[in-house]
Amino acid sequence: MNLQRLDKIIANQLNIPRSVARKHIRWGKVSVDGKTLRDPSLQISPESEIEYKGESVVYKEHIYIVMNKPKGVLSASEDKKRKTVVDLVAEPIRRSGLAPVGRLDKDTTGLLIITDDGDFAHNVISPKKNVMKTYEVLLDGDITEQMILGFKEGVVLADGTKCRSAELKRIDKNKAEIKISEGKYHQIKRMFGTVGLGVCELKRTALGGFKIPKELNEGESRELSQDEISAIFEDC
Ligand code: URA
Repeated sequence: MNLQRLDKIIANQLNIPRSVARKHIRWGKVSVDGKTLRDPSLQISPESEIEYKGESVVYKEHIYIVMNKPKGVLSASEDKKRKTVVDLVAEPIRRSGLAPVGRLDKDTTGLLIITDDGDFAHNVISPKKNVMKTYEVLLDGDITEQMILGFKEGVVLADGTKCRSAELKRIDKNKAEIKISEGKYHQIKRMFGTVGLGVCELKRTALGGFKIPKELNEGESRELSQDEISAIFEDC
């Protein structure tokens, strides 16, 4: 693994500003492989045994977080005025460089992955990877058999963009589950717009084979396990 500055490792792993990490290092609160190091600029292997105030600092190159996104929050890393999903990430797991994997509209709720691993994010979003996105949708009109067939064939949006085949399953007269393998801008709202229906509620419930954890209330977030990360790339 690449060497990194000691203050960067400490700041990242403890979720504290670099300036504070430097102070702690100078005060002798950090040891590496059993030796107290007081120079914040030292280049260290992140695999070394690093301790802060005698407690082991477990190095993680990247962090993968699942959030149950509430309404009214922007899918962005930062915004001058409005609250973003990264602002909502639970304090102990928040760190710099976090960004949502793809976007949910401000009024969409449900499963959102947040990470500082850009390659991973790209793999989840890329249509080439075929990661299915499952949503529950409440509409302002009834779903017909014709719509189900039309969605399966591939909807052509108002601007002429052709969508891939989508699986539409009726749950109730005006409630459905829909699975799509791409993520065009406002895709689901625009797809239903072509059949004259408006979307009243939209919730993402799964990404690939990973379903939104039942215990996660709206606005809550937690780290993903390795099995959960793998499930994203499995079939639903
Ligand atoms: N499609 C939409 O229209 N909105 C979302 O937030 C996600 C998919």
